[in-house]
Amino acid sequence: MYTLNLGKLTVEQFLADYWQQKPLLIKGGFTNFQDPISADELAGLALDEQVDARLIQKQAANWQLDEGPFDSFEKYGEQDWTLLVQAVDYWQPDAAKLLEPFRFIPNWRIDDLMVSYSAPGGGVGPHLDQYDVFIIQGMGKRRWRVGMPDASLEQFCPHPRLLQVTEFQACIDEVMEPGDILYIPPGCPHDGVSLDPSLNYSVGFRAPAQKDLIGGLADYLLDFQIDGTRFSDPGRLRSVSPGEINSRDLGQVRQLMQQLLADDDLLSYWFGSYITQAKRELDLQEPDPHYQAEEIAEYLEEGSVLGRLGGLRCCYQQPNAEEDIQLFINGDRFPLPATELDSARLLTDQTVLDAQQCSHFAQTPERLAFITQLINQGYWYFVE
Ligand code: SIN
Ligand code: CO
Repeated sequence: MYTLNLGKLTVEQFLADYWQQKPLLIKGGFTNFQDPISADELAGLALDEQVDARLIQKQAANWQLDEGPFDSFEKYGEQDWTLLVQAVDYWQPDAAKLLEPFRFIPNWRIDDLMVSYSAPGGGVGPHLDQYDVFIIQGMGKRRWRVGMPDASLEQFCPHPRLLQVTEFQACIDEVMEPGDILYIPPGCPHDGVSLDPSLNYSVGFRAPAQKDLIGGLADYLLDFQIDGTRFSDPGRLRSVSPGEINSRDLGQVRQLMQQLLADDDLLSYWFGSYITQAKRELDLQEPDPHYQAEEIAEYLEEGSVLGRLGGLRCCYQQPNAEEDIQLFINGDRFPLPATELDSARLLTDQTVLDAQQCSHFAQTPERLAFITQLINQGYWYFVE
């Protein structure tokens, strides 16, 4: 387990003063940091065609980008390249543990864990990201420079699939050592150049744009064949110019659309389902054959431990203690009685259920049936 040490800052102070505002270097953010994955294991993942990996290499002023799966890394030599592997939390439970210290931000804002291996001199070049990120230094040392957002910076492509930014003024310029953490808000230019063979772990966040939200809502309405209320205009005034869409009509269109968003149930069901959809294919741990509920009950009572599938998105909502809970897992909604808050929280707040937490699901036939369904879908699995 990794414990985050913000030094003199509390999490509340970090959120108030830095989150989405300014970058922060957290020296010794993890004490005695142990890499959860080795460079060789990371390279092994990048050989797999299901894994999203890129290798960026700098040759003098030229930048090259190769996409995985890779066969070997020999041709890249000893320096000036970085291998980046996306969503390592989907594939590697030990690496996924690095997301846990950051759960003071809710699940739905967390994206995934990207891991990079850099040879000395390696980096992806100065660039901007649209999302918040915590970059954890694993083995080796890397010099990081970070600046504040600056509208005068220009972005350019030194390679068709690589977006970089012009020279920026750094407010942080430090050599990071194992266990150091760099927080970078969206839009802050940054550049990391490795001094040694080094590993970096990026805990990335996500923030949907209005386009994504409206698009996601439209998909939901289509999927569930929700027509909503149709435009109506009793008391219409005579049109002076039939070609005009006048502002009164536009105002009514806006009102009709806002009325849809004002429907609490619709907003809640859609958003929970939208935001828990996996962004890439999950490595489902579906048991073959499926378990019977009685078998699961035995395992749970015997002290088994259940792990949640890496990358599985789980959230819940309960507007008040009297109302049903809406639990969302991988885009599906499961309504639970108001009294099942413990169940919802265990499934969404925890990525591992210890023996005592597991026994909770053997206590009623409904809980047992539900956990059996989730295990048979490959969402939770018995940890050896
Ligand atoms: C890296 O780990 O090399 C890249 C991280 C980043 O700058 O977003
Ligand atoms: Co970046």
